[in-house]
Amino acid sequence: MIERTLAILKPDCVRKNLTGEVIARIEKAGFKILGMKKIKLTKETAGGFYAVHKGKPFYEGLVEFMSSAPCVPIALEKDNAIADYRTLIGATDPKDAAPGTIRKLFADNKGENIVHGSDSPENGKIEIGYFFSEKELIELG
Ligand code: RTP
Ligand code: MG
Repeated sequence: MIERTLAILKPDCVRKNLTGEVIARIEKAGFKILGMKKIKLTKETAGGFYAVHKGKPFYEGLVEFMSSAPCVPIALEKDNAIADYRTLIGATDPKDAAPGTIRKLFADNKGENIVHGSDSPENGKIEIGYFFSEKELIELG
C-alpha cells in the first residue's frame, strides 16, 4: 500500500553536513520526496511534535536537542513507506541498529540519532501536517 512518512534530518545531521548523504540514501531506497524544507524549531514546536513522549526521562533533552540547530523535515511517499523507512534508518539506539542503516553509519548515540521517522501510516499523515500545508506537497502522478 502507498503510504506517507515524515522524515526529519535532525540537528546533528545538519551540523555534520550529512543532509545530502542521507537524502541520497532515502532516494536510492525508492522514496519520493513530496515536500522538503529547512527550519529551526522553537522549544514549543519541538515539544509539541514530541508531546507523546512528555514526562519520559529523555523528553527535556530531546526538546533541547531538536531546537538546538536547524533541521530538515521531508514528506516522503512509497509503497510500504513506514516499515521500509524504519528498516532504512535502523533502531533508535545506533548500538542496536543493523549494519548499513543510516543510524548505524552516522549516529553518535540514542538521543542524537540523525533522523526521525513516523511509526504508523496515521501518524505519518498527522506528522506531515505538522510541517507542511497541502499546497506544499507535490502530488505524484
Ligand atoms: P523517532 O521518533 O525520532 O523516529 O525515533 P524512534 O521512533 O526510533 O524513537 P522514539 O522512542 O519515538 O523516541 C523519539 C526520540 O527520542 C530520543 N530518545 N532518546 N536517551 C534516550 O533514552 C532516548 N530515547 C529516545 C531519540 O532522539 C529518539 O529518536
Ligand atoms: Mg518515534
